[in-house]
Amino acid sequence: MLSGMNSGHAKLADWGFTHLPAITPSNAVDLGCGGGRNAGELLKKYPKAHVTAIDYSDLSVQKARDYNQDMIAAGRCTVQQGDVSNLKLPAEAFDLATAFETVYFWPGLEKCFAQVAKVLKPGGYFMICNESDGTDATSLKYEKIIDGMKNHTVEEIEAALRAAGFSGVKSDHHPSKPWITVLARKNALQAS
Ligand SMILES: C[S@@+](CC[C@H](N)C(=O)[O-])C[C@H]1O[C@@H](n2cnc3c(N)ncnc32)[C@H](O)[C@@H]1O
Repeated sequence: MLSGMNSGHAKLADWGFTHLPAITPSNAVDLGCGGGRNAGELLKKYPKAHVTAIDYSDLSVQKARDYNQDMIAAGRCTVQQGDVSNLKLPAEAFDLATAFETVYFWPGLEKCFAQVAKVLKPGGYFMICNESDGTDATSLKYEKIIDGMKNHTVEEIEAALRAAGFSGVKSDHHPSKPWITVLARKNALQAS
């Protein structure tokens, strides 16, 4: 299933990657990393960066470690078990955080986004990429059968980001699919 996640989400993730800002991060973190493919893509896109990948599932952590084993051996990648609702990462350490196909499961957007803000440097970027815009029929069907899943609208995500200390929020909707990205920056003067 996790290998399927890597390949099944690749097109969406590649579209999401085109929305990342033109920056040269030293430290990036992929939250809810699943099988680890997107951490691998971050390592390719930002060859000078160290990438941390976080997931609360043991199996995801194992798979993401296998997927990125060469980069782990090279000292450029760390895969850690962790819950985004209580991140045990150093404060103000990351220039960029990404979350692909995962915020549906986070227990309270605002609370979890505040955790992301805590680990980002002031002015650091956070990008969310979802295949559901919170209104498409297929995803709403999944929401009924997957316990704890919530398909958020862009407006809900944007409001939670602002409440959690982000600004400069920019969203995009795929022209023909319900795919969305939301990019925001941690407020530069925010105390963590
Ligand atoms: C649908 S998968 C997406 C995986 C990967 N980001 C991708 O795009 O292929 C959702 C992932 O989010 C993880 N996840 C959900 N809630 C989480 C939380 N509170 N903390 C950390 N990881 C979480 C799950 O374990 C799962 O691996």
